[in-house]
This record gives sequence, C-alpha cells and structure tokens, in this order.
Amino acid sequence: MESRTIYNGPYYRYDMNLLDRTIETCTSAAQKHNCRLFYAIKANNESPITTRIRKQGIGVDCVTHGEINYALRQGWNTSEIVFAGSGKTIREIDYALRNNIGVIHCECPEEFEIIQSLKTSLESDTSIALRINPDVKVDTHEKISTGEKHHKFGMSVNEAKALITNFPTEIVGLHFHVGSQITDLSYFEDLSLTVRGIIEKLPTGYELSYLNLGGGLGIDYTNPLRNSIADFEGWMRALRTYLPESVIDTIFLEPGRSIVAQCGQLVGEVQYIKHRKTNPTAILDVGMTELMRPALYEARHKVTANKDELIEQRYTISGPTCESSDTFGAGHSLPELERGDLITIHSAGAYGSSMRLNYNLRESIPSEYIESQVKTYLKRKVA
Ligand SMILES: Cc1ncc(COP(=O)(O)O)c(C=O)c1O
Repeated sequence: MESRTIYNGPYYRYDMNLLDRTIETCTSAAQKHNCRLFYAIKANNESPITTRIRKQGIGVDCVTHGEINYALRQGWNTSEIVFAGSGKTIREIDYALRNNIGVIHCECPEEFEIIQSLKTSLESDTSIALRINPDVKVDTHEKISTGEKHHKFGMSVNEAKALITNFPTEIVGLHFHVGSQITDLSYFEDLSLTVRGIIEKLPTGYELSYLNLGGGLGIDYTNPLRNSIADFEGWMRALRTYLPESVIDTIFLEPGRSIVAQCGQLVGEVQYIKHRKTNPTAILDVGMTELMRPALYEARHKVTANKDELIEQRYTISGPTCESSDTFGAGHSLPELERGDLITIHSAGAYGSSMRLNYNLRESIPSEYIESQVKTYLKRKVA
C-alpha cells in the first residue's frame, strides 16, 4: 500500500489508470456486442470520475432530479441521459421532460398517465420506455435484488402489454434491471431468455426500438487486486445469448458498480485495539458513514494494512460511530495492528462516497485521484 508521509485523516483514493482501463475494456466489449452504455451515476458521482466516463462517450443513467441536474452541469447532452427511479415526483418528471432527456423509464400505469399528459402539454421530445419486473430470481443479496414480483420496481408484463396495446406509438420499448453484484453470468443468460419470451409475446405489429437491460454485473470483492476488471465481455455475451442482433439491434446497458468499484479504496487509521486477548477489534477513524455497504447489507470488503509481517491474526475491523452495525466484519487476517497503522478497505469506489452519511455529524472526507503505479512501472520498463 502506498502511504503518505503525513496522514491527514481518512480519504478515498482512486486509481485513475485502473478506471481508464476498466472503461476501455467495457467500451470495447460494448462495441463488439453492439451495446450502448449509460453509466449509473448513483454508483459514484465524483466529478473527476464522471468526467472520464463521459469523455469516453458513455451516457448516464439518473434516478432523481438532482442526478439529472448534476449530469447536465457535468456536460452530458440531454439525449445521453436516461431517467429511471421507482417513485418519480411530478416535479422530477416535469424537469426531465422540459429538458428533453433521452428516455424516461416508466415504472407503473399511474406514472405513465402523468408522463404522457405532461409530455403532450410540454411537447417534449423525451421517449417513454416501460420498466418491467420480470419476476426472476438472481443470486445476490436480497437487498440488492430487484426483479422479483415482491420487489417494488417496475410493472408486470401484463400491465406493460396493456399500455403497449393502447399507446403503441408512444412507447419506444422496455427496460429491465434485476439486481446488482451478480457474478454468476448464467443469470444474465436466463434474463436474456426471459426477455426474449416477453418480446415475442408483445402485441402484434408493435415495433420495439429500445431495449435496456440495466446494470448488475458483479465484481470480485474477495480478490480485488487479482481481478481488478469485471468480466464485461462475458456479461454482454451472456445477454446476447437469446437476444442476438437479428432480434434486437442495439442493447442499452447501465453499468454502475462494475465501472467504478475496483478503482476506489478507502484509507483510514487504526485508533484503538480493543479486547486484544479475546476478540481483537481494531477501531478505525472510518466506518459506515464513509462506506455504508457492510452496515446496510453485510457486504464484505477486503481489508489490508500498510505493513508486511509473516504472522497474521484475525481482527474485527470496526468504524467509530455509535452503531454496532458500524463494522467491516470479523475474521480479517492482518499483521499485528497497533494504533496509527493505516488500513485500506478495497473495492470502495462504488456505493461508497455516493452513499456517505453525515450521521453523528461526521465530516465528509476528501478524495485523491492517483495515476497508478502500473503506468510508472511500464514507463520504467520501456526506458
Ligand atoms: C435501474 C438501475 N440501473 C442500473 C443500476 C446499476 O447497477 P450496478 O451498479 O449493479 O451495475 C441500478 C442499481 O441499482 C439500477 O437500479
């Protein structure tokens, strides 16, 4: 781990070369499989990160007025924005339509009525697609699974068919997003088959011109250094299994986590070691307020320390706030820790800073954007 001479408190550290390589791998796969990308900005909205993503020609997936407004200020064109969101307010819909954003993903028949009447009165160019809840199960944490019928997202296939029957020319197509952190690619093959079945049963004569299959590609939280780039090629290949170009020309996708998770780390410092003999627990100066995933859904992140020692022991690593759930979990194998050691929490680039809390009035922490050592190493090798 790279350590700064003076530690000024916790920070997020981003490896910008890794981000570049990740974007490059993703855009190459998208080109090969004729997919168009819209970055899910909820995963990370830090400007140096989103700027690199935007500059590679990737559009943006927003879920609130705030995200659309931010995306426009960041320089995305209105046509490069898609707008999802399970509970859009009239104000948000109005804002999206007035700005003629590319596509709005409608979640239920009541919302369709609102969108359609506002769209007509504003003479907006925004297209409307329907988000379908296909009732499929995927292997991920229940709290980041979204495509089963007990989940709040989307409308049923029958509701979508009824809307398409009544308003065939006003609906450009369909949107799906069945969950996040999906690492078993066979679930994307299953999704492809399910979507194919739905498309084949749409009202006769309906021309589907837009198909968005959301995000959801998982990353390797266990071995982030060995597996630093997600399997974009495998993801898109799996989605194309039953949806080849002969069935649908372009597939729209909304990757979030897979683009930004691995380039980000959270760096903090050991403040105290408690219960050294029974259950050694290192209390850090960072925790759930900077990375809420472990507290929210028991997510496990790899934790390393800035020292190399052959003998390691198991630690519980916890944050400083007044919650027992403020912990990165038990059983982290680390060299003997002491006050002042620097700790790295890996894979913190997605749903880290964008989900930060000011609980306990914790101050927000800075970010450092580093051009990684890989580049330096390659340069040295060439020289
Ligand atoms: C509609 C939609 N699209 C895309 C994403 C991004 O998912 P991921 O970060 O898993 O790629 C999400 C995440 O919640 C989502 O709700």
